Amino acid sequence: MVHSAASVVSPDYATFVNPQWQRLLSVLGMNVCYDRCSGAELFTSDGRRIIDFLSGYCVHNAGHNHPEIIAAIKAELDRSGPAMLQSHVPELAGELAAELCKRAGGKLSKVFFCSSGSEGVETAIKFARARTGRTGMLYNDGAFHGLTCGALSMMGDPFWRGKFGPMLAGTQAVPFGEIAPLETQLATRQFAAFFMEPIQSEGGIRVPTREYMQAAQALCRKHGTLFVLDEVQTGMYRTGPFLAAHHFDVEPDMVILAKALSGGLIPVGAVLMSEAIYESVFDSLRNAIIHASTFSENSISMRAGLATLEVLERYRLGRRAAEVGEDLRQRLRAALSGYEMVEDVRGAGLLSGIVFRVPQRLKLRVPFEAFRKIHPGMFGQVLVMRMFRDQGFLTQVCGNNFMVLKVAPPLMVADEQIDQFVSAISKVVDEVHSSSAFWSEALGLAQRVMKV
Ligand SMILES: Cc1ncc(COP(=O)(O)O)c(C=O)c1O
Repeated sequence: MVHSAASVVSPDYATFVNPQWQRLLSVLGMNVCYDRCSGAELFTSDGRRIIDFLSGYCVHNAGHNHPEIIAAIKAELDRSGPAMLQSHVPELAGELAAELCKRAGGKLSKVFFCSSGSEGVETAIKFARARTGRTGMLYNDGAFHGLTCGALSMMGDPFWRGKFGPMLAGTQAVPFGEIAPLETQLATRQFAAFFMEPIQSEGGIRVPTREYMQAAQALCRKHGTLFVLDEVQTGMYRTGPFLAAHHFDVEPDMVILAKALSGGLIPVGAVLMSEAIYESVFDSLRNAIIHASTFSENSISMRAGLATLEVLERYRLGRRAAEVGEDLRQRLRAALSGYEMVEDVRGAGLLSGIVFRVPQRLKLRVPFEAFRKIHPGMFGQVLVMRMFRDQGFLTQVCGNNFMVLKVAPPLMVADEQIDQFVSAISKVVDEVHSSSAFWSEALGLAQRVMKV
């Protein structure tokens, strides 16, 4: 492995893992060697400090390498207990499940643990089928539910699906936030579940109305379809309350958690569900392990989950997300609303999006359209590059909506880091509108993309 001042070149990674990822990071100027990550800060081997406003796509709610979560994991390892015996009752899973259900509320009283968000979605698909005897699944346009086959079947974008069909039969998209088309589909009574992210993350930080959420839930109940919320990004206090569902006063039949649940240190996922759904699968001794997974309920993830809840609550990070997030959006609106290409700043808690639009002025429109032809994500990627290289902030555009820049720092982000972010993005957005350097940078990026 070679660490130059600027980048990591690992022949082994390129040969045995994913050369395209290494190349892509280099092209984007984001192939950097990180020595240490702590809280919201990432320290590189060439002495730079980057502030993380992406949080590994909402993994690092508690901040990077939280010392109390690390200590809890170390203590669990030192115990030399039955971490993955597969032939015992893992008490810690019971403890974590009880804590999760207590916070989630409503009818969520049983938990199935797994190791990722996608595995949680797959679990919810199977359990919904078992409970209802139906096979179809409804999902929203713009959704991101994961890249395993079942989850992918509930993501309409051909970019993700392209090479991997055929998808799961009976999956059907409905427009985000519109009741009438949802009702039409539900009335067919073919659908076991309606999956939605209560706030769409990769779709562009789209926040539905309370009326929509409540009507969607009522219609699901009326037509015998389970109402399933994918809270893989929005859960664990990211948007203020424990679940984003709590903003809308809805009581989903199932909730999927992952990402931030174990403090960003150990893979984990959890599907919270009603008793009736659980019993439709685990209905007898014969079926006691009819759905299972090797790493499910392992004591290291369970301990990490318990420690993460404790940290998030002791430091009141949900309340902080709500207060700081609202203030951040107001400040971003005040700083950016005068710029032609900024359409909106939206979100909840510390999950926000800066929404850009196609410019009208010819001076901006011509380069914008030229670069969009090369790749629809080019504009957003140059923004991300500039934020990273010139301003020292790690950000990213949404995976299913390249015109939205995601703003999602760890929940313990400091006030000064927020101030620095507002000033950094203001400078970059100003350059977009006033300097030809931004657009010539895009040209350089386009040329590098063509070359690789
Ligand atoms: C909302 C949502 N659901 C599910 C997933 C899939 O999770 P995982 O990558 O852990 O499989 C993701 C991943 O980004 C996600 O954002």
